[in-house]
Amino acid sequence: MESEASVIIAGNWKMYKTNIEAVDFIRKLGEKIAPTKAQVLLAVPFTAIAPAAKEAEGSLIEIGAQNMNDASEGAFTGEVAAKMLIDAGAKFVILGHSERRRYFNEDDAFINRKVKRALKEGLKVILCVGESLSEREAEKTEEILQNQLKACLDGVSENDIKHLIIAYEPVWAIGTGLNATAPVVEETHLVIRQILATLYSEEVVKKVSIIYGGSVKPANAQAYIDEPNIDGLLVGGASLDLDTFDQIVNYQHHANT
Ligand code: PGA
Repeated sequence: MESEASVIIAGNWKMYKTNIEAVDFIRKLGEKIAPTKAQVLLAVPFTAIAPAAKEAEGSLIEIGAQNMNDASEGAFTGEVAAKMLIDAGAKFVILGHSERRRYFNEDDAFINRKVKRALKEGLKVILCVGESLSEREAEKTEEILQNQLKACLDGVSENDIKHLIIAYEPVWAIGTGLNATAPVVEETHLVIRQILATLYSEEVVKKVSIIYGGSVKPANAQAYIDEPNIDGLLVGGASLDLDTFDQIVNYQHHANT
């Protein structure tokens, strides 16, 4: 996941797919991916990480998790540690997703501890940030992003930030069909880069990938990718269907044929 390399297309399967379904999907997707088009990441349920990672070996697909605990290990019933994810074959973890913030009351301080733990143990991180509809309407987007980024990246070094991708996911666009338009996302990604520039050197900030998530579909994917500051996509619902996700992954391929 070298940030500047290629467009990143990440799928977030949320709480969908059994192991058989996951392995079948990955085998078929691996056969379909046109080489060098995109970096493909799939965040699968915990239970599917090991078989999915095995199936993805030798393909262009990297497997990751959707959450983890911040502790290295311990008496935390039902939780999963970073080193267990790595042991199962995960290469990255999504942290700070708005569904975790909303349904499981995760705050920036907790997310920050997870980010530091993941990076320390050697997992790459997709850190999600984004404002709610009322916050955007109140013109608080920049303030919210600034607060989230500063808090979630507290203590994350210049060197560690290289292993982190920012996913801008406006809460109002997730699973709603109401995607933020490409110009709005581009403008917001520039704001995110400016905020990062207050925390890290210009050289490092230029290389941080900022991807967009929220109701991405084959029909709107290309418009985002065409923008200079949108380095990829985080796809939820549209990553669950093989043909739909394949159209997003192989967008240039399809556009040219
Ligand atoms: P969506 O989800 O594509 O279904 O809107 C995006 C996400 O939650 O990462």
